Amino acid sequence: MTTLKAVRGTRDLLPSETALWNRIEATARAVFARYNFGEIRTPIFEDTALFSRSVGEETDIVSKEMYTWEDRARAQSEKTQSLTLRPENTAGVVRAYIEHQLGETGLLQKLFYIGPQFRRERPQKGRYRQFSQIGAEVIGPPSAGSESPLRDAEVLEMLATFLDELGITGWILELNSVGSAADRARYNEVLRTALDLVVSGMCADCQRRAVTNPLRVLDCKVPADQPIIATLPVIADSLDEASRVHFAAVTAALDAAGVPYTLNHRLVRGLDYYTRTTFEFTHGGLGAQNALLGGGRYDGLSEAIGGPKAPGIGFAMGEDRLVLTLAALNQGAAPPQVDAFIAPLGESLNPAALTLARELRRAGLRIELGEGSFRLKKSFEAADKTARNIVILGEDELQSGILTVKTFATGAQTKVPRPELAVFLKQ
Ligand code: HAM
Repeated sequence: MTTLKAVRGTRDLLPSETALWNRIEATARAVFARYNFGEIRTPIFEDTALFSRSVGEETDIVSKEMYTWEDRARAQSEKTQSLTLRPENTAGVVRAYIEHQLGETGLLQKLFYIGPQFRRERPQKGRYRQFSQIGAEVIGPPSAGSESPLRDAEVLEMLATFLDELGITGWILELNSVGSAADRARYNEVLRTALDLVVSGMCADCQRRAVTNPLRVLDCKVPADQPIIATLPVIADSLDEASRVHFAAVTAALDAAGVPYTLNHRLVRGLDYYTRTTFEFTHGGLGAQNALLGGGRYDGLSEAIGGPKAPGIGFAMGEDRLVLTLAALNQGAAPPQVDAFIAPLGESLNPAALTLARELRRAGLRIELGEGSFRLKKSFEAADKTARNIVILGEDELQSGILTVKTFATGAQTKVPRPELAVFLKQ
């Protein structure tokens, strides 16, 4: 029989790895709470139309990377429906915002999420078919201030704070504005005209994109195309006055707060819903897939999927990439150590050992329980790998109530009365 393995592009995370994942998630929750975000959990699959209408038919994600299936009707009352594993979470959050009429509160909604996303991409370092995102969205009616450039700056400042607190040094914030829908339409025309003259010398993908979605040409990674792309007009020159003022206000607030950034005219991002501010935080330690996170403003997304006017801005971080970066910076979590390993001297002492473990665990200690059939040497070896202390439990110790504790860091052996054991082991 062939052995079954995890599917290509998916991975198991073992306890030695999840410790770091948990630290990242705990830091995100703590930082987001200080900015008054609440958690939202949306379903892992949605109606396919949600993604085609929001992320966009022409994007790589929708045109070739989604896990989509026809869900057959099981009863007369049900219809066959096209469903898709979510490739990202912004669309689901905005759908939930509309469905639960969160705009009716008149308040800004600040929502964060942590969870798996699915894209059928070619797997490589930092790129998986099931990956985890930590993201957040700030969305609301314009009367709640959702269109303000202060929201953009606040989100970017929060990300800088999060990465700093996590211990990721050397990040770069790349910033751009893709303008309003009208600005983008104008820029698309300017770009199409410019591309007419040069596109015949570019890669096949660019030739197709020049017709279907010229903006995507700026995402091209083919080295030979780069000098040509460098000569193309930049979007900043196609922005109208309102978009220009908005972007200037974002950068002014970042300057005031001391958040460093670099402008990148080519940062148009791979999803169609963006308007105005777009950004990525990149890191040199990641190699080809260097985006730690990406995001931007999406002022027309709610209306595009049938909702009220609800401008918003958000981001998603690739959790897998945060882990890789921390590991590269030697910031991986130290292997967790339990407070004590209890070594019963003989199988008859097993029940007493369980009782002692129960007492200590209930006092809040992390305890590993050995087995009475172990020779003492084997107990010491196991304890040395996992615990800070070993507690020997023999007949004498049980009768006298005085336990022998060896502390590995110092090599010290101490006799500790049972009522004082929890306090001693916590030191
Ligand atoms: P995105 O740029 O498609 O944006 O993804 C955000 C981040 O998810 C990327 O920067 C990367 O770190 C991570 N990521 C994407 N694909 C993969 C993959 N195959 N394997 C590992 N990590 C990956 C979005 O998803 C938008 N929803 C972000 C957003 C929220 N914009 C506004 N609000």
